[in-house]
Amino acid sequence: MFISFEGIDGCGKTTQARLLAEGLEKIGMYLVFTVEPGGSVIGSKIRNILLDPKHKELVPLAELLLYNADRAQHVEEVILPALKSGKVVITDRYIDSTIAYQGYGRGLDMGVLHTLENLVTRGLKPDITFLLDINVEQGLERNMLAGKIDRIQEEDIRFHEMVRQGYLKIGEANPWRFFKIDGGLAKDYIADKIFGIFLERVNGL
Ligand code: TYD
Repeated sequence: MFISFEGIDGCGKTTQARLLAEGLEKIGMYLVFTVEPGGSVIGSKIRNILLDPKHKELVPLAELLLYNADRAQHVEEVILPALKSGKVVITDRYIDSTIAYQGYGRGLDMGVLHTLENLVTRGLKPDITFLLDINVEQGLERNMLAGKIDRIQEEDIRFHEMVRQGYLKIGEANPWRFFKIDGGLAKDYIADKIFGIFLERVNGL
């Protein structure tokens, strides 16, 4: 079982991904909890390049290739081995982040993005993707309160709005794996809902 969490900055997906991981560990499941960018040692170096607010000159194509370099390492070194050994993998961000941020946000060519995706993931898609949807102002405000500043976070509201709309479109195009959840709802309510969807999906396999 391969589960990804997606959404704009400040949507609460990291909290929810952790809560699901804790819940699954409590019922005795073996799992790997991981993150993009930065789910491997090499990936964490790539993450530093990507998110450093000083790197204003990073061009969109270089950004795209770095996210994909991180993912290639992550899939090969972390995700595939864990799935092969029968573990559940929960990742905080995966392929849909690239489609939403570099595709819908930056406006890069979707054909190129999908070619890279196939190359890098070897066709591995999540079984379930939880999309935490929240309005952009609320998301950015949450991040500001948490003191989170990085290069992507510093983009303007319009960029984040395009990313949000992109996610909604990706969700509509992939209804069998996407579950959209209102990120503005109470934390525990969302966690219960996610846990319920997971159990339903596992029992249906
Ligand atoms: P992170 O600190 O993990 O932010 P968040 O808590 O919102 O997940 O930083 C990851 C940033 O990188 C985030 O702004 C989204 C962006 N990103 C992309 O633009 N493309 C990608 O493919 C991925 C994985 C992340």
